[in-house]
Amino acid sequence: MKILTEELSPDRLKPLVDPAELGFGRYFTDRMLIRRFKDGRWDDPKIVPYQNFTLDPAARVLHYSQEIFEGLKAYAGDDGRIFLFRPEENARRMNRSAARMCMPTMPEEDFLACVTSLVVAEKRWIPRATGTSLYIRPPMIGNEAALGVHPSDEYLFFIILSPVGAYFKTGFKPVRRYVEDVYVRAVPGGVGDAKTGGNYAATLLAGALAEEKGFSQVLWLDARERRYVEEVGSMNIFFVFGTKLVTPALSGSILPGITRDSVLKLAPRLGYEVEERPIGIDEVIAGIEDGHLTEAFGTGTACVIAPVGGFQYKRRDYTITGEEVGPVTQRLYDELVGIQYGRKPDPFGWVKEIGRL
Ligand SMILES: Cc1ncc(COP(=O)(O)O)c(C=O)c1O
Repeated sequence: MKILTEELSPDRLKPLVDPAELGFGRYFTDRMLIRRFKDGRWDDPKIVPYQNFTLDPAARVLHYSQEIFEGLKAYAGDDGRIFLFRPEENARRMNRSAARMCMPTMPEEDFLACVTSLVVAEKRWIPRATGTSLYIRPPMIGNEAALGVHPSDEYLFFIILSPVGAYFKTGFKPVRRYVEDVYVRAVPGGVGDAKTGGNYAATLLAGALAEEKGFSQVLWLDARERRYVEEVGSMNIFFVFGTKLVTPALSGSILPGITRDSVLKLAPRLGYEVEERPIGIDEVIAGIEDGHLTEAFGTGTACVIAPVGGFQYKRRDYTITGEEVGPVTQRLYDELVGIQYGRKPDPFGWVKEIGRL
């Protein structure tokens, strides 16, 4: 594989954005990467100016949602080094999602080379302010022009980049979540453990209804019994019982988060016990009521760790930590963010240096 780069004249470069204005996913860099799959093989990727696609209106993705994507970040260290965090895990998950959605896989080293080349080409866009980063979004779509429910013959893989601001603008504060006991995110035997767009479309209505009630995100329960906790918004969830961390076991309808896996590996080194098992909402409520459940937090690339302050379940409010961030949540956040920005020792070799600003 050889990555080709199309010239982009300097007068076409966009102005950089003030880090305080960035938010999430609103600005995109000057270039993108595209790679096509046709006649059973991948072509050479190209880095081209950021541009619109031309898609046939019959493109299968527009009708049957044959689409997958990934999400990871590039971080600027204090000394100007550029880091990715466990990008090979994104390459692997992309291939698992591809297999589930009848799409072609890509050698992991190709995925990593595509991500690295584009980020390095666009390094002037990596913001340096604390908590900011360059979000990397690699999707793949089935773009063969044909109707009928059948896997596409042709695919388009692409990568776009978006400089993003600090996630916790108003401070690292716990937020209450709405426990959704009508709608579900994913079903056993479905595609909940693949990172495919339809999973997110399926959450929009519940999210909007929760927002009307004053909650920014929902806590998802399992589809069979509406009893076992699955995820929170588009994050994995952890419950803290003193020094023990419990997270739902990967049931097939939960996305295997890379931040989740990192917490599971890091926490024992910090002296916490970890458990992956089914956890019922009744156990969560009982734990809050008797004080054994001391903290809860969500994990994901966008926020790293998001403290959860409590829940509303069947019209009753349950508060865990009030406005306070618990010590376990804070410690895990500090450790993980420290590793990602190259400020703390990286005992697992998670951080990959890909260049300098
Ligand atoms: C549904 C869902 N769950 C969990 C996660 C967290 O995964 P990760 O830690 O790999 O970002 C994400 C984000 O990618 C997600 O979309």
